[in-house]
Amino acid sequence: MSLDAPYGSARLVLMPLQSEQDVVLCRNRARIIAAALGFDRQQQVRIATAVSEIARNAFRYAGSATAEFLLTSNRTSTRRKQSFVTVVHDQGPGIPDLPSILAGTHQGVTGVAMGILSAKRLMDSVHIETGASGTTVRLDQELPRIVSRRKCSSCPLPLCNYGRVLSLCR
Ligand SMILES: Nc1ncnc2c1ncn2[C@@H]1O[C@H](COP(=O)(O)OP(=O)(O)O)[C@@H](O)[C@H]1O
Ligand SMILES: [Mg+2]
Repeated sequence: MSLDAPYGSARLVLMPLQSEQDVVLCRNRARIIAAALGFDRQQQVRIATAVSEIARNAFRYAGSATAEFLLTSNRTSTRRKQSFVTVVHDQGPGIPDLPSILAGTHQGVTGVAMGILSAKRLMDSVHIETGASGTTVRLDQELPRIVSRRKCSSCPLPLCNYGRVLSLCR
């Protein structure tokens, strides 16, 4: 999976994950951006929880990572779809035995591993690429409605409140 923003995407924030505090900040930013993009409170918590699980994994098992928040826009044959996307990327050792983790049969030190499985339950989709040179996890959630009709001067999307999201994250 490329970290390059795909066509029709606006990068909102790129942040390092180098400490426990960064992981907490990442969780908070996910919730703030989700709120700015129109998700209700329950959805904000679901997204923040999923992002936090994946960000914490990357920091814990790889030592350091980056988290990037994007707003993507695609057109299907019938409608336009916008999604809030988080990409967490690390250059750690990779996830051993991902199939057993996804099957719910992987035993961690504290019992069955639940972080990745919970993230999958909480989001529309969680896509994982992992190997000896690192792990990239992409979490997608479709926006409840098309965001603000105000035209934004600083991003490629025709309709977004990118400027507002950025100012919230500073
Ligand atoms: N970014 C990562 N890099 C390397 N290994 C990882 C990463 N994320 C997860 N893992 C591995 O996958 C396992 C399952 O992760 P998870 O489902 O979050 O459960 P837990 O963290 O509670 O063990 C972890 O125990 C760890 O071995
Ligand atoms: Mg975990």
